[in-house]
Amino acid sequence: MAKVYVTRQLPPGGLAKLEKEHQVDVNPRQRPLTREELLETVRHYDAVICLLSDTIDARVIEAARGRVQIFANYAVGYDNIDVAAAQAAGIYVSNTPGVLTEATADLAWALMLAAARHIVAAHNFTVAGKFKGWHPTEFLGRDFCGATLGIVGAGRIGQATARRALGFGMNILYYNRSPKPQFEAECGAKRVELEELLRQSDFVSLHLPLTPQTRGLLNKERLKLLKPSAIIVNTARGAVLDEAYLAHMLKTGRIAGAGLDVYAEEPKIHPDLIGLDNVVLLPHIGSASWQTRLKMAEMAADNVLAVLAGKEPLNPVRP
Ligand code: NAP
Ligand code: GLV
Ligand code: GLV
Repeated sequence: MAKVYVTRQLPPGGLAKLEKEHQVDVNPRQRPLTREELLETVRHYDAVICLLSDTIDARVIEAARGRVQIFANYAVGYDNIDVAAAQAAGIYVSNTPGVLTEATADLAWALMLAAARHIVAAHNFTVAGKFKGWHPTEFLGRDFCGATLGIVGAGRIGQATARRALGFGMNILYYNRSPKPQFEAECGAKRVELEELLRQSDFVSLHLPLTPQTRGLLNKERLKLLKPSAIIVNTARGAVLDEAYLAHMLKTGRIAGAGLDVYAEEPKIHPDLIGLDNVVLLPHIGSASWQTRLKMAEMAADNVLAVLAGKEPLNPVRP
């Protein structure tokens, strides 16, 4: 029986299989571990299920070296983990690809629809008792049918987001480092350079992982290429775009709207984004459905079970 640590309580039931075979200790606090607590805890466990809000850097890896066999991230993104340091220390890293694809694509659409049709502002208006009858010019938004959706990062979630756009009658452009011929055939998507995508799209949805190559990719110069009528949605990672400049563009009406689920320095929100009526802000809930979070827990547990049984993880992450 090995010892497994889980850095935060997960949805009930997800770790049942793991609990049958091993000792599973869960962080009992209603908050993430502090850095000191994390550094101390990893010394005593054979496997750790961690969250994207846990920074597993070289120091944590060093503390875990010789004891922890796997960091199983409860997320598909793994920019919170120094994967090279883990590999050098002989520690596996795994993630949860695929099971959260549809939930996250749904949320990208929730943000696009909310931003394009002023859903949050209109809701607040209605509950404040301001609805005095059908109005010919209040809350005018943007149409989806016939508009162009630009997908930045056409992987699992980017493609799932694009697939939904077919039902809305949209044209699809995409930017991705490798071509996706099957996606092109299935969705009629056209691969273009990032600059062309930004110039031509009415809606832009970001789905890149955060890496040294994608950090700050949507910088000031590139954001400036967006149409004044454009709406941009980010369910990827906050640091892929220049938040301060995006806030400036929203404030000055230089773009129509935005929907953000992720931020560069979570849980901090750039102060200039607060209080604008053309941006919808969510607290990083892309994968937050009951079914999806349960599957993510089972997947993280299966990776731990495999490694503790002396096998490779099922969803390994390598540098
Ligand atoms: P994925 O299947 O790996 O897709 C990522 C895509 O980005 C791939 O098509 C990849 O191209 C492309 N790409 C990577 N680096 C690039 C670069 N430098 N330039 C151009 N294209 C590049 O990942 P996924 O499952 O769709 O997840 C994407 C990201 O979404 C995750 O990494 C995570 O950060 C974020 N996410 C957020 C939430 C949320 O709660 N908001 C939930 C889930 C995921 P190749 O095919 O050529 O490798
Ligand atoms: C969530 O952001 C994830 O990467 O799974
Ligand atoms: C609106 O409710 C309409 O009937 O057009």
